[in-house]
Amino acid sequence: MSKKVHIESYGCQMNHSDSEIVASILAKDGYELATSPEEADLVLLNTCSIREKAEYTVMQRINEMNNLKAKNKDLKVGVLGCMAERMKEKLLVEKKVVDLVAGPDAYRTLPQLLEEVGSGQKAVNVLLSREETYGEIEPVRLNSNGVTAFVTIMRGCDNMCAFCVVPFTRGRERSRDPQTIVEECRQLVANGFKEVTLLGQNVDSFKWKARSDDQKTRRSENTGTRSVDPLGRQTITGTTDFADLLEMVAIACPELRIRYSTSHPKDMTDKVLAVMARYDNICKYIHLPVQSGSSEVLKRMNRGYDREWYMGRVASIRKHMPDCAISTDIISGFSGETEEDHNDTLTLMAEVSYDMAYMFKYSERPKTLAARKHADDVPEDEKGRRLSDIIAVQKLSSAKRMASYVGQVHEVLIEGVSKRSSEHMYGRNTQNAVVIIPRYASYELVAGDTVRVRIVSATAGSLQGEHIGSVNEIVQEA
Ligand code: 5AD
Ligand code: SF4
Repeated sequence: MSKKVHIESYGCQMNHSDSEIVASILAKDGYELATSPEEADLVLLNTCSIREKAEYTVMQRINEMNNLKAKNKDLKVGVLGCMAERMKEKLLVEKKVVDLVAGPDAYRTLPQLLEEVGSGQKAVNVLLSREETYGEIEPVRLNSNGVTAFVTIMRGCDNMCAFCVVPFTRGRERSRDPQTIVEECRQLVANGFKEVTLLGQNVDSFKWKARSDDQKTRRSENTGTRSVDPLGRQTITGTTDFADLLEMVAIACPELRIRYSTSHPKDMTDKVLAVMARYDNICKYIHLPVQSGSSEVLKRMNRGYDREWYMGRVASIRKHMPDCAISTDIISGFSGETEEDHNDTLTLMAEVSYDMAYMFKYSERPKTLAARKHADDVPEDEKGRRLSDIIAVQKLSSAKRMASYVGQVHEVLIEGVSKRSSEHMYGRNTQNAVVIIPRYASYELVAGDTVRVRIVSATAGSLQGEHIGSVNEIVQEA
């Protein structure tokens, strides 16, 4: 009988994508996916450390594993991801129910670690790597809608923003071989997927230098029937940056919608914006975390840009793509943040008028630059009050932006049946706004359809539209 694994992912998209790598490694080791934790022989929790609250949620879940183990004595429990990396062996000491701890760069060793666990020992591997990208591993898509997928293009982060634990939990930045990225995207198309999101902590610093032997093979492959790099760029310069990669994927998979996340304001180039503007299949949406609107705070955060630079980047996006949506991340109450700094954040938000924002209270994380150098000196209730101000401003911007779409015709990729009504489908336009449309038009819409939709009404969270034809009809009309 084959063994069964249940994987739960917490935190960012990168973690969800990593779980798909883990599923692939374990499938080769004879594991099937369990449909529930109750029927699993192995439960893996892929965890997040970004804020204290995220860790608290996972700790509660680890405690719940005691009940599962009481029912199934042979059950093994593993902790993966950022908390595994941050807490290391301490997790085994603090939580007796945990059998295995593996950091983000240790997933290839899971079969060996599980062997140790099978023989009654506890197993740990939290070594970080400078090279590991899991480049050639074909992920097993988990909880997939069959339409949209994530592809990790790089790992780790070298930026050292003062508040962020990621450089400690995910290690040094490294990029994945572009050839394997294009190959994975092609495979997604072959499997019927319609949209990909290229993932990295800081995609704008993607950099791949072809080794000389790679270049030789690429030259010969390019002259053969199997063209690896559609632009032949790697053979010319030997270096692929993010703009090159984006263009390679856009050309190699013209029928695939392409998104990416996350951009860094200090590194986002006009070259990337020009590529986005040039290709219809690259979605007009940029996630550009600002964190704060105060140059003073940005300096203490070690973000590498000030307010003026950030606004310059926003102006450049608008120049290249007037219809491009911009979203952001904002932290309230970072060390030393004054009322004036907070007001700077509110005015910046009003100036940019973001389509969407993820907003957080500052949570001090162990080992970070801020934890070592700056006191966490904004009181909790003050952080909360400032966060409510931020949320209120964002609500207005979101509503304004959504209302501006009413009356327009958008191309919408249908992702599935609406959670609120089985008579409706939901999808997204290029700007990443959720669009709800009736399921039955002249025919029944299904996930994966790309349709033309007239937007008839809007709320701050979604658009409502009517189906006015398939995208092929646009081509015929043109
Ligand atoms: N406290 C609060 N928010 C944080 N983020 C990262 N670290 C922290 C922290 N210590 C937020 C940032 C980042 C997003 C992924 O999470 O806004 O962009
Ligand atoms: Fe953290 Fe900054 Fe790296 Fe983002 S760019 S992961 S916020 S250190």
